[in-house]
Parts: sequence; C-alpha cells; structure tokens
Amino acid sequence: MFKVFVTRRIPAEGLEMLREKCQVRVWEGETPPPREVLLEEIKGVHGLLTLLTDPIDREILEAGSHLKVIANYAVGYDNIDVDQARQQGIVVTNTPGVLTETTADLAWGLLLAAARSLVKADQYTRAGHWKSWGPQLFLGQDVQGQTLGIIGAGRIGQAVARRGLGFDMDILYYSRNPKPELEKETGARKVELDELLQESDFVSLHVPLTPATENLIGARELELMKKNAVLINTARGPVVDQEALNQALLQEKIFAAGLDVFAREPIDASDPLLENPRVVVAPHIGSASFATREKMARMVAEDLLAVLQGKTPKNPVT
Ligand code: DGY
Repeated sequence: MFKVFVTRRIPAEGLEMLREKCQVRVWEGETPPPREVLLEEIKGVHGLLTLLTDPIDREILEAGSHLKVIANYAVGYDNIDVDQARQQGIVVTNTPGVLTETTADLAWGLLLAAARSLVKADQYTRAGHWKSWGPQLFLGQDVQGQTLGIIGAGRIGQAVARRGLGFDMDILYYSRNPKPELEKETGARKVELDELLQESDFVSLHVPLTPATENLIGARELELMKKNAVLINTARGPVVDQEALNQALLQEKIFAAGLDVFAREPIDASDPLLENPRVVVAPHIGSASFATREKMARMVAEDLLAVLQGKTPKNPVT
C-alpha cells in the first residue's frame, strides 16, 4: 500500500479520499512539522501533501527516495524546489483556479478596509472613543471611479480587475503578456510598471514569488505612487520590501496598505508595521472560505492519488 504524509490536517473529505487508498499519516500540530520530522517522515513515503508553510528544499527531497508526488495545498509553490523535484522525477501539483474568486474577494476586502480605515474605526468605536459624528472623523479615500492597477494579470489579478468594474474604475495592468480577454471585458489597459504605479489610486499585487518578483515594490516604486494610493498584497510577502513600505507609510508617501502576506510569516507581533495605523492586516487568509478550502482538499487528494496510480494529474506544476 502507498504511504502518504500530510503535513497538516486539511478538510476531512480530502483526507478520507487518501485514506481509502493509502496508508496516511497526518501531522496534527497547529504549526508546521519541524524540519527533522519532515526529514524523517519523507524517507518512507510515496506521496507528500504539503502546505505553503513547508519548505521542501533539496535536502528534504533527497531524503525522499520513494517519493513520487508532492501535492501542494496552495496555488503558489515557491516553498518547493521544483527543479530539484523534476530532476528526481517527482511530480509537483498545486491548486489553481478553485481559490481565484475567494482570494479576489479578500483583496477587495482589504482594499475597502484600507481605503476607509475600517479596522481603526472599528477599534475606536468599540473602545468608546466615539463622542459625536465628526466632519473630519476617519476621512478616507473614495474607491468608486478611481484607477485600479493590477500587477500580475493571471487568474486572481483578472478576478480583482473584474470586481473593479462594479466600482466604475479604470483598470491598468502590468503583465508579461497582453490579456486581450481582460481588455475586452473590463477596458483594462496594459502599461509598464512605472506608469501603473504613477497613475493608480489602488495597486493590487498578483504575481508569483520568483527571483524576478522579489522586492518588486521597493522604495523607488513606492516613491512613484500617488500620495492617496493604497497598496494591496495578497500574493507573497517578499514581493514588497516591507521596511520600505513602512517608511513610505510613515512619511505619508502613500495613504495605506492592506496586507494578507508578509516577508516572514507569521509576522512578529513587535514588527513596527503592525503599529502603523495605515495598515490593515490579515494572517494569509486569501483562500480561507469553507467551500474553497474543501475544494482545495479534494483537488490535492485527487492529484496525489492520480500520480500514485500512474495517471496524469490535473494540476501539475510545469
Ligand atoms: C496560495 O494558495 O498560494 C494562497 O496564498 C493561499 O491563500
């Protein structure tokens, strides 16, 4: 019987699918299995079900002498050394598509919350500071009719752009390849990165983390943005130079930021960024709806089993 190690408890249906066909061990901790556990567990298994919090590097892969498949419970797979896996003949799969709309919803949640200082306003109200309706109380930025800049026009970027139509926004996008469908549907215009940063009131990041996108948004790029601009990151933390972002916010070079992802996760509770009232944060919950996480669980289980059964998985990472 095939052996599978699952690095965290995922929704039950996915685990049941695996248990019907394989001998499954699940790491029951609330945090990722320590490296030494992974190194030990990987030795005897044929399949590994990982989360984006599990760094699967060369040393770990080399310990997996029976390993045939790694099914990553995420669309991003920057946690896995895919080249090394390929060299060892190990198939890597991910979960594209199913989490697109859910993540786009969260990006918009952050966008609206950051534009209107919603979290601070909530805290202020609960703390009993509200004395009277005030003409200057919690002034924010309008969203309707503004310009939305999408950096990375893949599935999620496009879903975020489509939502902008409901707010009558002009859409700009920065992407390697033109997206004629997106342009037709939303009137979006493809521009260079600098132009997007200079012209957008809202900038939302949707690129994968690669050497080319690491620190894509640094001090220079933040300097180009409008003073009223809001930056949203639901992609990967290291795409933004976090220290430069904090400085830009402190110096009021941009208005606010909404962040679901961080350079290091979890972000340290003492990180100065968390003291900044212009930042709205979430603990990497882009895909966290009941329905989507269940779909992701079925998807990883299906693909993992497909590879073990000698079939082609639906979502191989290429
Ligand atoms: C992913 O799947 O890569 C997302 O970051 C999860 O929210």
